[in-house]
Amino acid sequence: MLNKPAKAIPLFDCKTTQQVIGQQKFLDAFKTILDHGGYCQGPETKQLDTALANYSNVKCCSTCGSGTDALTLALMAWGLKQGDAVFVSSFTFVASAECVAITGATPVFVDSDINTYNIDVAALERAIQEVIKEGKLTPKAIIAVDIFGSPCDYDAIYAIANKYNLKVLSDSCQSYGSVYHGKKAGSIADMTATSFYPTKPLGGYGDGGAVFTDNEEWNSLVQSCRVHGMSPDDHYDNVRLGLTGRMNSFQGAVLLQKLTVFDAELEARCKVAARYDNELDSYFNRQQVLPNCRSAYALYTINCEDRDELMAYLKERGIPCGAYYPRPVHTQTAYAKWSTRALPVCEKLSKTVLSLPMTPYLDDEQMDYIIGTMNEFANLKKSKAA
Ligand SMILES: Cc1ncc(COP(=O)(O)O)c(C=O)c1O
Repeated sequence: MLNKPAKAIPLFDCKTTQQVIGQQKFLDAFKTILDHGGYCQGPETKQLDTALANYSNVKCCSTCGSGTDALTLALMAWGLKQGDAVFVSSFTFVASAECVAITGATPVFVDSDINTYNIDVAALERAIQEVIKEGKLTPKAIIAVDIFGSPCDYDAIYAIANKYNLKVLSDSCQSYGSVYHGKKAGSIADMTATSFYPTKPLGGYGDGGAVFTDNEEWNSLVQSCRVHGMSPDDHYDNVRLGLTGRMNSFQGAVLLQKLTVFDAELEARCKVAARYDNELDSYFNRQQVLPNCRSAYALYTINCEDRDELMAYLKERGIPCGAYYPRPVHTQTAYAKWSTRALPVCEKLSKTVLSLPMTPYLDDEQMDYIIGTMNEFANLKKSKAA
């Protein structure tokens, strides 16, 4: 029988960073905002735009209200509309496809790769060819979702995008801080959207998001759409449709503070992931990170056939875990009308994946207990099967 660790194990940890940085720094920053009165898109969010653009090594960053806003604003800037097709994996959080539907375009769901859980590039090309052959929709863009923080195969995606003249939007809502072949998330695709929802690798204390691009024209369209399609010359002339997509200044201040420890937290996440990678029994299939890439490890996710039993086993022993995502987007009520092809890998993943505790602040005792309990389950299963 394994001994429970002294400290309870969280699935996510949104609070400890405050102790690491010192809560007073947040309170001081909030006092500054209360005093200056620029509560929406004030000086802090502008400072954050610059800090994030520098961090990602990209020309433009526009912070906004959420990751969903960021995805939607990017597609709005590209003028996506009814009759356009956008290719996206179904094994993702709903917002990856919701943003497409909001613009009036059609999400075309694509199957996933069983090893990386990201979009299957061969299935992507087949889906594009089918849409062209049907002749009803015009292929316009691909949304590459870096699921659980792990970068997609962007070289393969760009080979296809270039062949069919499609734009690539990276849904890096879970992968801010990841690295693909030396490039940080934000600088890999034509445009990138990220989320600062509290459980994300760079999480705020509320909703937030950002759009990244090297294209200044697209960035100014994003900024216009962020405030109802406002003209930069006449604030009372709205020249296109947009949203209320601003970030509030308090969130900007939180994220500026959290950015100071972000690299250290990413490193700590990678150490936790390395322990899982090296010490978990081979009974569990790990999500594979592509060579020459670093995941931001929003989540550490394995898959196994008896996922539901494992989940109950862990929870009974005080180890929180989650099945992300138990229902692919194309099977959800509002999206079923766009379900046009079989997605067997995605459906299998939704029945077998399990995400384990992942925070930069898990200590050795907690990790020993999680890994020990997982391996105990694997041994039980293996001895029953023998
Ligand atoms: C892959 C993915 N895309 C988009 C979003 C949407 O981000 P937000 O919740 O900030 O709107 C999320 C958030 O969970 C996500 O995980």
